[in-house]
Amino acid sequence: MRARVTGTGSYLPERVLSNADLERMVETTAQWIVERTGIRSRHLAAEDEATSDLAAHAARRALEAAGKGADAVDLVICATTTPDLVFPSTACLLQAKLGIHTGAPAFDVQAVCSGFVYALSIADNFIRSGQSRCALVIGAETLSRITDWSDRSNCILWGDGAGAVVLEPSDEGGIISTHLHADGRYAGLLRVSGGVSRSSLGPNVMRMEGNAVFKVAVNTLDAIVDETLAANQMSKSDIDWLVPHQANIRIIQATARKLGMGMERVVVTVDRHGNTSAASIPLALDVAVRDGRVKRGETVLMEAFGGGFTWGSALLTW
Ligand code: COA
Repeated sequence: MRARVTGTGSYLPERVLSNADLERMVETTAQWIVERTGIRSRHLAAEDEATSDLAAHAARRALEAAGKGADAVDLVICATTTPDLVFPSTACLLQAKLGIHTGAPAFDVQAVCSGFVYALSIADNFIRSGQSRCALVIGAETLSRITDWSDRSNCILWGDGAGAVVLEPSDEGGIISTHLHADGRYAGLLRVSGGVSRSSLGPNVMRMEGNAVFKVAVNTLDAIVDETLAANQMSKSDIDWLVPHQANIRIIQATARKLGMGMERVVVTVDRHGNTSAASIPLALDVAVRDGRVKRGETVLMEAFGGGFTWGSALLTW
């Protein structure tokens, strides 16, 4: 018995911030941003819109696609680094918003940009062990709240959004394997400068050594691709679709090269929404499923890398 994705959904907030808008905010050019990152625009949550609101839109769409009502959900996992509150968890707030009154366990997972792959892996284990028959897995972020809008090397990258999937047990297709890793020695290269138990000297915003992160990300993603294929005695040519974390087009292209895949087999949405951290994979997946690119029976590889450092992959038959 495998866990199969039976519905996907996504949501981007209404407000769009283009590269031209950023030209008016920091010393940059639209061309520089596109060339270095592949990003053309990003979406920003409204002031009264929290992560759980974005998550609720995406989750409703995923449940609708799966043909499931709120009463069927028996597990809610929300991957986020930008929760509404310290507590209750965003998953609990979301559960209330969706009217899931089944007593289903609900909790958040914090693995930054790898959060969705982590959450998917946990849900996969719940389904395989028979503990869940209908899991709702969401990645949702309001990174704009922790972005330093005066730091030109950083603020150009991030955006807000949410993506969700419904997982159910199935005899056909589904998640083949997931692979999760972390190495806390790299914590300083990508972090928020303060939090709940450690106060910050300045505002609580993201800080990143972009160059160093870039290099480790490319090498690490190369390694996780090898690990995932080897674990399943598969070769590169067995992969039909790469649905990568949408951080930077150059990182995505490097992984595609490693897999020997043409970019037409890679789902790219980073141009439209920037790096939405845990939301980015389910956002991209939803787009490719709804436009008919990813079809039943095809093999999909998802991979992510993020703060921590954390990284991971999920291989599945659609
Ligand atoms: N506009 C114009 N110039 C900019 C700029 C901007 N928005 N941001 C930085 N620069 C300048 C720098 O000041 C530097 O100028 P200098 O040479 O005069 O000192 C120059 O561009 C090169 O800076 P550098 O940081 O080396 O650029 P880069 O090619 O590494 O690109 C990133 C910067 C952030 C786009 C890139 O490092 C990156 O994408 N890193 C990975 C980030 C990521 O994806 N993180 C999330 C992983 S989950």
